[in-house]
Amino acid sequence: MEFIDLKTQYAKLKPRIDARIHAVLDHGQFMMGPEVAQLEQCLAARTGTRYCIACSSGTDALLMALMALGIGPGDEVVTSPFTFVATAETIRLLGAQPVFVDIDARTYNLDAKLLQAAITPRTRAIVPVSLYGQCAEMDAINEVAALHGLPVIEDAAQSFGATYRGRPSCSLSTIGCTSFFPSKPLGCYGDGGACFTQDETLARRMQQIRVHGQDRKYRHPLLGINGRLDTLQASVLLAKLEIFDMEIVNRLRIGALYTELLREVVTTPCVEPYNTCVYAQYTIQVGDRTGFREQLKAEGIPTAVHYPVPLHLQPAFASPGVGRGSFPQAEAAAERVVSLPMHPYLSADDQRRIAQAVREAAAGVLSAGRS
Ligand SMILES: Cc1ncc(COP(=O)(O)O)c(C=O)c1O
Repeated sequence: MEFIDLKTQYAKLKPRIDARIHAVLDHGQFMMGPEVAQLEQCLAARTGTRYCIACSSGTDALLMALMALGIGPGDEVVTSPFTFVATAETIRLLGAQPVFVDIDARTYNLDAKLLQAAITPRTRAIVPVSLYGQCAEMDAINEVAALHGLPVIEDAAQSFGATYRGRPSCSLSTIGCTSFFPSKPLGCYGDGGACFTQDETLARRMQQIRVHGQDRKYRHPLLGINGRLDTLQASVLLAKLEIFDMEIVNRLRIGALYTELLREVVTTPCVEPYNTCVYAQYTIQVGDRTGFREQLKAEGIPTAVHYPVPLHLQPAFASPGVGRGSFPQAEAAAERVVSLPMHPYLSADDQRRIAQAVREAAAGVLSAGRS
């Protein structure tokens, strides 16, 4: 059994993906070829945004968004400590300081109630993360941001395809950033990402930043990066978009079945009633995680931990006065979370087998804890 099965997806899409890849090989425009613009149009339409700027990864999407907002040394950017490293890494790369706010223990997303207290005169932006495929509490976050005139970047690397109160992830704030890493809900066959915005000035800036800050060949009004998405990856994404809606339906069904099978046994994901979650990860909580994972491994069931160490406890983000105990919900989650196999082609039979193994492992872990 695979944790994420990309082979079944490829088998299903092979003629379409192969044809699209061959079309690129034939026309030979490997950088910024016509498929990139076509993809941007499709993604903008899907998310209801005016501008989509495809780029080289989710990390670069965040970097380009922060750069377009002019984030730099001395600035503070408020974000979640319970996320993939790229969220805070990009802030630090620009010389700014990530200021962490603890998460809501139920959803693992930034706790909007704690946001106000983290804002200082140096705050320049807020970067909520829509973790595991469920959007953060964006309306409440946008409200606090508006009070202070701050832009909001949704780190939607894991939530492309999800909706929040009926609106698509990536369209919910000043800029939305996503990732097309192969294992993401919409993934290519290498690195890829995109920024989304309604704001023309920011869009133009991100387009420039993506190509070394140039507005025309060899003229560089801005500092930029090499942040282009290559045409082959765009062609793969165009093929995958053709069945993405069907895959989302599968993801919702598979997530719901997992929850039905496991809710009495372990802590299952809490999806807010106004959200749809695309389950980039199906993440549960258990007690003795190491023992639990070993038992599942012995049954041939792979698991993963997203993420074992909250970012405020990572050496790279060490900050005076911030240590163990600073963000108790993030720390507790980091000790207990474990993700189960999740992809749109997971069969109900496999899910039942996984659920049975989870039940046995959880019971074993519990009785070991009592003895
Ligand atoms: C929450 C989050 N932010 C940012 C990223 C970075 O995306 P990429 O790996 O495409 O650079 C990821 C990818 O794992 C992520 O999960």
